Amino acid sequence: MNLKFLTAFAFALPMLAFAVSATNTVKFDAPVKSLNKDVMYAFQNRKSAQGFTEKVVSQKEIGNILWAANGFNRPEAKLRTAPSALNKQEVSLYVFDQQNVYLYDASAHSMSVVVKGDHRDLFTERMKTPVIILLVSNISPFTYGTLEDQKMTGAMDAGIVSENISIYCAGSGIDTRVRATMDKAGLQKLLNLNEKQIPMLNHAIGYEK
Ligand SMILES: Cc1cc2nc3c(=O)[nH]c(=O)nc-3n(C[C@H](O)[C@H](O)[C@H](O)COP(=O)(O)O)c2cc1C
Repeated sequence: MNLKFLTAFAFALPMLAFAVSATNTVKFDAPVKSLNKDVMYAFQNRKSAQGFTEKVVSQKEIGNILWAANGFNRPEAKLRTAPSALNKQEVSLYVFDQQNVYLYDASAHSMSVVVKGDHRDLFTERMKTPVIILLVSNISPFTYGTLEDQKMTGAMDAGIVSENISIYCAGSGIDTRVRATMDKAGLQKLLNLNEKQIPMLNHAIGYEK
């Protein structure tokens, strides 16, 4: 096999972003302890990306983003980086890439394949994005008030998780854009969600063009 053939073959392969085990799981390293940047740096640099290169954020960084978003920062008490109304911890994180859709398991700090294939076309096509994180709020633990009240609480909790993602990305040189636009019905069907598991927001994640 000559070098020209090998190079052409390598480009024909899909981008394998994450190391998926035989049990369809991606196990992350422990989240980073410090970025050597303070939180004010992250606030100064937070912005919505306008477009992305094809470069995929590393597995290690996806792990850091998921942990910052809604991981366990006090595992002994089962408490997380994001607060949640009544401590219901109802926001789930799905990761979409060219290969699969994964669901984050905060207690194992890993993600597992829930659907195979590339389903990123369910999000806005205004920009092509290597990785998308979908925030789903399961409002079924909220039993007070009207359905609208419950939806609003789920939306607020998702908004806090979203800002954790934005601030981690801004502090670590990763670009993101939060979006409410997406095919919610298509996502609910794909992920087998019920009407109380609501896709609230999604984050395009990558490196800005
Ligand atoms: C709740 C929410 C929903 C948003 N939805 C979209 C969206 O569907 N598509 C999009 O391109 N940007 C979306 N954005 C990003 C905003 O357009 C962006 O934050 C705004 O233009 C300000 O720019 P900045 O984030 O760089 O400060 C959304 C932002 C928020 C907070």
